[in-house]
Amino acid sequence: MDREVKFVEPAKLYGMIKKELDEAYFEVMGKGDLIDRGQLRRFEENLAAFVGTKYAVGLNSGYDALHMSLRAAGIGPGDEVVVPAHTFVATASAVVNVGAKPVLVDVGKDFNIDCDRVEELLAAADRDGGRRIKAIIPVHLSGYMADMGRIMELAERYGLVVVEDACQSLGAGMERTPAAASQPPAEGDGGEEADARRKARRGRGKSAERNVDLFAEEGAGATRLAAIAPRTTAPRPDAPAPEAIGPAWVKAGAWGLTGCWSFYPFKILGGYGDGGAITTNDPEVALFATRMRYNGEDRQTGEYHGHGFTCLLDNLQAAFLDVKLRYLPQWITRRQGIAARYRAALSDLPDLLLPHYDDPRRDHVYQNYTVRSRQGNDFSQYLKSRGVEVLTQFRKPYYRHEALKLEDRGFPETEALSREVCSLPMNVEIADEEVDYVISVVRSFYGKT
Ligand SMILES: Cc1ncc(COP(=O)(O)O)c(C=O)c1O
Repeated sequence: MDREVKFVEPAKLYGMIKKELDEAYFEVMGKGDLIDRGQLRRFEENLAAFVGTKYAVGLNSGYDALHMSLRAAGIGPGDEVVVPAHTFVATASAVVNVGAKPVLVDVGKDFNIDCDRVEELLAAADRDGGRRIKAIIPVHLSGYMADMGRIMELAERYGLVVVEDACQSLGAGMERTPAAASQPPAEGDGGEEADARRKARRGRGKSAERNVDLFAEEGAGATRLAAIAPRTTAPRPDAPAPEAIGPAWVKAGAWGLTGCWSFYPFKILGGYGDGGAITTNDPEVALFATRMRYNGEDRQTGEYHGHGFTCLLDNLQAAFLDVKLRYLPQWITRRQGIAARYRAALSDLPDLLLPHYDDPRRDHVYQNYTVRSRQGNDFSQYLKSRGVEVLTQFRKPYYRHEALKLEDRGFPETEALSREVCSLPMNVEIADEEVDYVISVVRSFYGKT
């Protein structure tokens, strides 16, 4: 093989920021700061500031973030949750593991949940009255956000909790019009009926048995949060209340009740092991997650507030992530530059669909540069045979794995793209000449120079 271009090169990336990562490591090791210490709190504050929420709570994985969010919202047995058919399986597994049922919906041409199909589903559910849809998890796949304006509007109309699976889209943003307010809206805004709907969708009333007693104690959330806020997730002094924001550019993870993040090593912000977080503007949710990640314990009082989990983001990982977070804006710009290079060189190939969408109200941070080739495996095999490492995720959609026992209601777009997707190398450590090599191999597959 003449050449090799890796999909990612973690050792090379380490070399690029070695000094700062090493300093972070020696600080943690030298002080013995292993669990729930200053590095974690600092990272949480910086992550919340980056996303534009009041709080961030570090967890062990993206899966934990989804799971924790659903529990905080009181989702459980008897409930249904709308999820896209084309996503990583964890989105649906989190729903199943709180005892609820995922209701799958096909995606559109941008790989994200098809809001027309969601609306049909919700309208039909409303008509027959038999469905128990309580929440929706839009996934912002590959670095491009789902249509959150539309989703927030549907959520408001049908009284749904919105949990954003933003695991692949840290830094992506979208314009928000005043009609699509982020959750949770101000209590008391919109009259008694609207308040009752909000409370119902946040699961109060039933969460007492299912989650923790926190929600059973009206008004307790704020008091308890005041006790822990300085330790974990100090509100940003400049963060506006969500209800006060007019038309604005709002980042992924700042729209729903929570945004869920994964710091799996190859994510746009990757750690050196598993990691995750939620972002939220809701103090009760932040408090819930802060306790539940530590087996339900309030670490100041030692009181257990429910049966929780062990899923705290490691201090060492938080220290590494905090270093990398500082680079994220420039790394996103680099990713967008690589994408522009791919676009300029590949957009004349009719059998290849590129991930470029002409929507000025949304940007793309290119966690993945996922193309669709009509030649499917022949295309990806050809690239591999020429030394280009590519990712062909989701060839078999998760709902077709028998053991998962999920309902396949027919998802033509998901089926088509699962045969065709192929992610080209996209990372900040790649050199321009490597990108050019990938381009030349792709073009040669299509018989072009
Ligand atoms: C869309 C999506 N959701 C959820 C997850 C789960 O994240 P983690 O692997 O950190 O549990 C991932 C990670 O691969 C993901 O890509």
